[in-house]
Amino acid sequence: MDIEGIGAVVTGGGSGLGEATARDLAARGAKVAIFDFNLEAAERIARDIGGLAVRADVSDERMVGEGFDAFAEWHGSAPRILINCAGIGTAARIVNREGELSIESFRRTLAVNLTGSFICLATAARAMQALEPLGADNERGVIINTSSVAWQDGQIGQAAYSASKGGIASMTLPAARELARAGIRVMAIAPGMFDTAMVEGLPREAQESIAATIPFPSRFGDPEDYASLAAEIIRNPMLNGTVIRLDGAVRLPPK
Ligand SMILES: NC(=O)c1ccc[n+]([C@@H]2O[C@H](COP(=O)([O-])OP(=O)(O)OC[C@H]3O[C@@H](n4cnc5c(N)ncnc54)[C@H](O)[C@@H]3O)[C@@H](O)[C@H]2O)c1
Repeated sequence: MDIEGIGAVVTGGGSGLGEATARDLAARGAKVAIFDFNLEAAERIARDIGGLAVRADVSDERMVGEGFDAFAEWHGSAPRILINCAGIGTAARIVNREGELSIESFRRTLAVNLTGSFICLATAARAMQALEPLGADNERGVIINTSSVAWQDGQIGQAAYSASKGGIASMTLPAARELARAGIRVMAIAPGMFDTAMVEGLPREAQESIAATIPFPSRFGDPEDYASLAAEIIRNPMLNGTVIRLDGAVRLPPK
């Protein structure tokens, strides 16, 4: 799909991978809305790229619905691209004397990462199916969800996070199969270690030792590396129904 001039929603676009993708899509000519819980961050980036900032908690169906309505009013039609980057990390052991993974924390992780991605996917798909098909393939839209390498090699302490990211990976194929009828593709990217707010909090030594475990290139991924893959997925119509690991060949050890 040609990106120039089309509408895109990027959730979690106020920071990290979502921010880089929102900026990249706008630079390629898309009209981009940033859905983020953090309105201030969303507004700052929206100002830079001439986009729309929407305060939305992706786990809240009503807020997401209102966000898509606001997008349609702003752009004149539904988005053809949805990039789901909103997510939270949870690290806690199941059994731990110093504080174990609470059921509430498990539920919240799934509510934001998995159910939140599904709410945005379903809302986008319902709006996209009414759009005119484009090009020789009669394509209507592209949805990209963000899984994680923890989907396959979750570490100790990542039971909740890995479960949420595994759910995202697993819904890719059934969603792509179902939405094929409407000309909507569904893909997932499973990033390895990326240089975002999450990593910035770690001491330099910890950052260096983690980077050394990445075979090649031995560095954290740049958010632009993620944005570049998202753009290629949008462009290439044969990419559908699968999860791409974007990880420099890293395989996370148990801890
Ligand atoms: N950075 C990495 O190494 C890495 C690796 C694998 C997967 N991921 C995944 O990539 C995605 C983006 O991560 P990032 O590193 O850019 O993180 P980040 O913290 O820099 O950005 C996440 C953004 O999501 C927003 N957000 C959080 N909860 C939200 C909610 N309920 N509703 C709306 N917005 C919400 C935050 O305000 C923030 O702007 C996440 O799903 C994360 O799990 C990141």
